[in-house]
Amino acid sequence: MEVVTFSYPMKERINNIGVLTSGGDSPGMNACIRAVVRLGLDNGLTVTGIYRGFDGLIDGDYSVMGTHDVSNIIQRGGTILKSARSKRFFKKEYREIAYKNMNERGIDALITIGGDGTFMGAQCMLEEFQVPILGLPGTIDNDLYGTDNTIGYDTALNNVVDAVDKIRDTADSHERLFIIEVMGKDAGFIAARSGIAVGAEAILIPETTTYLDDLINTLKTGWRNNKTSSIIIVAEGDDLGGAFEVEKKIQEHFNKYETRVSILGYVQRGGSPSAYDRLLASRLGAEAVQGLIDGKTGYMVGIKDNETNYTPLLKAVKHNKAIRSDLIELASRLSK
Ligand code: F6P
Repeated sequence: MEVVTFSYPMKERINNIGVLTSGGDSPGMNACIRAVVRLGLDNGLTVTGIYRGFDGLIDGDYSVMGTHDVSNIIQRGGTILKSARSKRFFKKEYREIAYKNMNERGIDALITIGGDGTFMGAQCMLEEFQVPILGLPGTIDNDLYGTDNTIGYDTALNNVVDAVDKIRDTADSHERLFIIEVMGKDAGFIAARSGIAVGAEAILIPETTTYLDDLINTLKTGWRNNKTSSIIIVAEGDDLGGAFEVEKKIQEHFNKYETRVSILGYVQRGGSPSAYDRLLASRLGAEAVQGLIDGKTGYMVGIKDNETNYTPLLKAVKHNKAIRSDLIELASRLSK
């Protein structure tokens, strides 16, 4: 699809930027909102916070934000604007209501912080109503093309590492095999990186076919090498199935270990953002305000190789981002 880019002098077109968070919350979203508000105000603009993502856009649930509204939030996880996965926004009739509401309130541009669903919604507002709009990558999954990291990914990785380190104590003491499921939807970024960081014996991700025979051989080799406990990290979207399914399949073929399953779940998404995520979020929030002022629209703003990078919204969401094959190779060599 063609990317629509408008060019206009700032004062004629943008006075009031609406900012919303949508989809799964991720640590660092607050730091990002703060940056949008502070940089918007610094440029003489009004910034309007929109609550509950696109649902709030439909319902006119807005509030003009001042500098103090974003004080003391940089260290907080979640999002002060709340988040939702709006079903109504899939329907054009509701998008029309949203557009009417934002017009009435004088909002003339949008910054949407979220993942692929958020960007699809943003693209609709761009195509149907020509709303100047930029997306910012806010998801723990890191599955967006055009940015090395998404806001929240680093914190989620650290959350996983903390949790698995603790589980390893039990695995070691009781000489068990733990199968630990991590989030990531249909992507394996969290699993791949956290798996290396915790020294997992095996990492199962949707991007590569998981062969049960190989997995069993890895476990057998470990057993022969006197590994009395083992950790397997399974991405929730892996083709072999979730952690319980993997446990069942392993037990059918290799039952030397007592096994346990642990599904880490939402602890991965919560808590205070890491320094990395705060910095990333602050840079991206600031850049998005500047991008709108400069007339950019229809892009996700990311950071690649430490430089700002603009990627068309639809390109950012299309599973274009690959997991580095050298990491996969490294994980397998390290686990021996
Ligand atoms: O996209 C972030 C994420 O946490 C995924 O890793 C997970 O599959 C999904 O959201 C869970 O969504 P929900 O919060 O709607 O249960």
